[in-house]
Amino acid sequence: MSLVTLKEILAGTREGHYAVGAFNFNGYEDAQGIVEGAVEKNSPVILMASSSAVKYIGLYQVAGMVSGMAKSVDIPICLHLDHATDVAMIKEAIRAGFTSVMIDASALPYEENIDKSREIVKFACLYGCSVEAELGRVGGKEDNIVVDDPSAAFTDPAAVPRFVEETGIDALAVAIGTAHGFYKSEPKLDFERLQQLVAVTDCPLVLHGGTGVPEEDFRRCVHTGMSKINVGTELKATYSHALRKAVADNPESVFDPRKYVGPVKAACAEVVKGKIDIFGSADKAWSCR
Ligand code: G3H
Ligand code: ZN
Repeated sequence: MSLVTLKEILAGTREGHYAVGAFNFNGYEDAQGIVEGAVEKNSPVILMASSSAVKYIGLYQVAGMVSGMAKSVDIPICLHLDHATDVAMIKEAIRAGFTSVMIDASALPYEENIDKSREIVKFACLYGCSVEAELGRVGGKEDNIVVDDPSAAFTDPAAVPRFVEETGIDALAVAIGTAHGFYKSEPKLDFERLQQLVAVTDCPLVLHGGTGVPEEDFRRCVHTGMSKINVGTELKATYSHALRKAVADNPESVFDPRKYVGPVKAACAEVVKGKIDIFGSADKAWSCR
């Protein structure tokens, strides 16, 4: 089927008590593995390309590849531009066929974050593309965005209704204690804050920094009302380990790239299937509107 928007794929998540997994990819094999894992679980899935992944693969190459993958299966797939700060790149991604973009203006003051996010929503509307924005700041390092002190920037529930109303966004990334990359110690999620966030808005909420979050915390997030959960670093590590192992296991066939890059697909599919079970989206392929 054709790619679906973020708005469509997240519709029904909160009432249905499940979240849709959003997975970062950096090439064909991990992207295909994500799709195959979701197909096996009959689950909706979001494929995310970061700005650096887009620069590495090519914007139109990403759009062509993932829309081709979507056409070959019968589950809803959304193609999302992750953590973009460059308005020109966002607009080009929308033109190229991405069905969702994230404008990450979270480093800007509140009013400027609203203005920039609203500008993207206005443009995306012309193409029927969804928009995610961020309020508060998720810690850690993602691409060129580095946030050292996450506790100073948890999302303030009181700031959410106006932000959602004035921007017209389709999903809101919130900071409740997760961070990008591997954790040095176990994350402490602020579930009370999440409850307040869910209470003040119907806008689907997004959890960033999924790598290393304990299973029980994921389940609690989903139960409380989180709609989209991002996982990136774990798949990067999975890709690298699978590739290294395949080369080590097949020293005589390293001249055939498919022999050592191919196993990346199954390894990534396994990770995705595990997350889908935790997020509760198995057999929800037809639950979005
Ligand atoms: O936007 C991407 C995600 O928030 C990925 O976070 O690399 O810590 O899993 P992660
Ligand atoms: Zn993120």
